[in-house]
Amino acid sequence: MQYTFEQYQQSADAIREQIGAFQPKVAMILGSGLGYMGDIVEDAVAVPYQQIPHFKVSTAPGHKGRLVFGTLEGRPVAVMQGRMHHYEGYSYEEVAYAVRVLRLLGCDTLIVTNAAGCVNRDWKAGELMLITDHIKIFMESPLRGENLPQFGVRFPDASHLYTPALQALARRTAGELGISLREGVYMYFPGPQYETPAEVRFARIAGADAVGMSTAPEVIVAGHCGMQVLGFTLLSNMAAGILDQPLSEEEVLEAGAASRDKFSRLVLACLKQIG
Ligand code: HPA
Repeated sequence: MQYTFEQYQQSADAIREQIGAFQPKVAMILGSGLGYMGDIVEDAVAVPYQQIPHFKVSTAPGHKGRLVFGTLEGRPVAVMQGRMHHYEGYSYEEVAYAVRVLRLLGCDTLIVTNAAGCVNRDWKAGELMLITDHIKIFMESPLRGENLPQFGVRFPDASHLYTPALQALARRTAGELGISLREGVYMYFPGPQYETPAEVRFARIAGADAVGMSTAPEVIVAGHCGMQVLGFTLLSNMAAGILDQPLSEEEVLEAGAASRDKFSRLVLACLKQIG
């Protein structure tokens, strides 16, 4: 199935009926651990995904399933509480659907966070990583199919999907807050099974520092429609095969809870400086 431009518009129109003249500037897709930020939005209007035509409902643990509009750090935001993942059964186009709707509503920047396995042996679980680039090979693109020129060109440049100026802002901000911030490459795997140790070795050789099951599809679509992107990863666990222990969802959720405070301080401080 391929969505038409009119369908994206219908979704945006349905949201506009609820938010009136409010215009969000920064879209935030917050993965495991930071979804609670939707709850601290001021003057919030929450729109459940079920009430938005053509929207899918996210089923992943710890994901709520609503868009929250309002202000955070004085900035007009749209916080996606709960994202879609390919492993839930959605196509990549469906996974990234909301990004285009938020673009139509006025967002020009996307802040995206996720939890991922740490591939870099010199780092530790619990650390934060600024995403400087990603690898999403082998998997289908969310842009596959007829191009919708209202959003962008057929063959979009992907040299700077993660906006260099926002990376610089994040580095500086982390330094000011005294929060240690790694930086590196996020490699997308579709899941839902965690990677095998051989896949993790492959990822390392390919140049990845982290492996995870989200983010790349949304960022590709955001880049296509001209949005700036700032991405952060919580390295919730060492990737498979590095430590002699099995990976579990509990471990990922616990790491999210443990680092929530520093992670949200960093994200909010960055948000505050995004014009
Ligand atoms: N692999 C993929 N996705 C993840 C991981 C991992 O090790 N940890 C959290 N999300």
